[in-house]
Amino acid sequence: MAADGLRPIPERGGTDMTAGPLTAGGSAVEGLSRLLAQMPRPAGAEYVAALEDELAARFEVRHAVAVSSGTAALHTALLCLGVGPGDEVLMPALSVVMSVAPIVSAGARPVFVDCDRHGRGLDLDDLAAKVTGTTKAIMPVHLWGRQGDPARLAHFAAAHGLVVIEDACQAQGSNPGGRAAGTNGDVGCFSLKDGKIVWCGEGGYLLTDRDDIAGRARALRAHHLPPYGGQPETVGYNYRLAEPLAVIARANLARFDDLLDHRRRQARQLADLLTATPGMTAATTAAGDNGYSALIWLDLDRPRAFCEHLARLGVPNSVGTFGLMAADQRPAFARYAGAPCQQAATVIDRTLAVVLTDHDTEERINGYAQTISREASTWATH
Ligand SMILES: Cc1ncc(COP(=O)(O)O)c(C=O)c1O
Repeated sequence: MAADGLRPIPERGGTDMTAGPLTAGGSAVEGLSRLLAQMPRPAGAEYVAALEDELAARFEVRHAVAVSSGTAALHTALLCLGVGPGDEVLMPALSVVMSVAPIVSAGARPVFVDCDRHGRGLDLDDLAAKVTGTTKAIMPVHLWGRQGDPARLAHFAAAHGLVVIEDACQAQGSNPGGRAAGTNGDVGCFSLKDGKIVWCGEGGYLLTDRDDIAGRARALRAHHLPPYGGQPETVGYNYRLAEPLAVIARANLARFDDLLDHRRRQARQLADLLTATPGMTAATTAAGDNGYSALIWLDLDRPRAFCEHLARLGVPNSVGTFGLMAADQRPAFARYAGAPCQQAATVIDRTLAVVLTDHDTEERINGYAQTISREASTWATH
């Protein structure tokens, strides 16, 4: 048992790749016990403050602000940057519903932009074509932990006077080019939901070097109440992260490198096992990708139906399990859709993105590979 109360991840080649649940006897559980013995403490925030210090140090940014979810982080970031009614936010159609909802909640208009052929980042031509006089922000979404070219995007944003809010909820630990995803824009937003690389059940955080954003975010997440907000000029929210969840997040943050390494190995293992399967190609990855999901490009008939079929057989994946589709095709956002973002739809429909967690052993991943290969070989007959 590791000192943090979470079982360590064995080195490559071990049969047990389990990162381990929170189990009794370690400091994560001891921390929770200690805290629970003190609760209720209505104004308590020490564990959240400690988590924020550790996140800021880990990501080498001036500020980390913990909130109750990734969705709350995005909403907070938009409000802190003054995005509201009458504003447009450029964002990829290659994204999840939770990336779009905060823009709508802020009263702004999401404008969907297509992606490049590989589904890495925004198509800069389409982006340029969609800038208008009311565009206020760009929100790149690093789906499956992959990001485009942050330097080019920053250059584009600066040239057009736009702020950049990164949705890095799936990109904890991704650092292609050496700089962490979520630290390239004005503010980066992360999720701590179960299944993310560092998790605590539900939670999120913002990273920023800007003092003004951090100050506003701290006020906004707690109704602008003291000690952060003084007398509120605008309404705020209860977007606080609960103290017990901060204890869990800190324990997982302490083993971030192991969790990241583990996830990358899992993703590589599944992709390697499927390379010889007809109709499947491992998606292109970059050196710093976090391996959030194992990504397989499908050259099969009815790829969405195939993903749904796999989900029913116990292979969790973005399309089959979570109904991922290009955001501009979702009925909920129909009023914001323009010409279809064809490339985003193709990438989503043809990518088998297998959902991975700490607990997926080598054996389970072998099982996924066997199921996928077997079903692919007979898919034409379905
Ligand atoms: C890309 C992306 N954006 C936003 C979110 C929202 O995060 P949360 O579920 O913590 O609200 C998620 C979470 O799954 C996500 O994957």
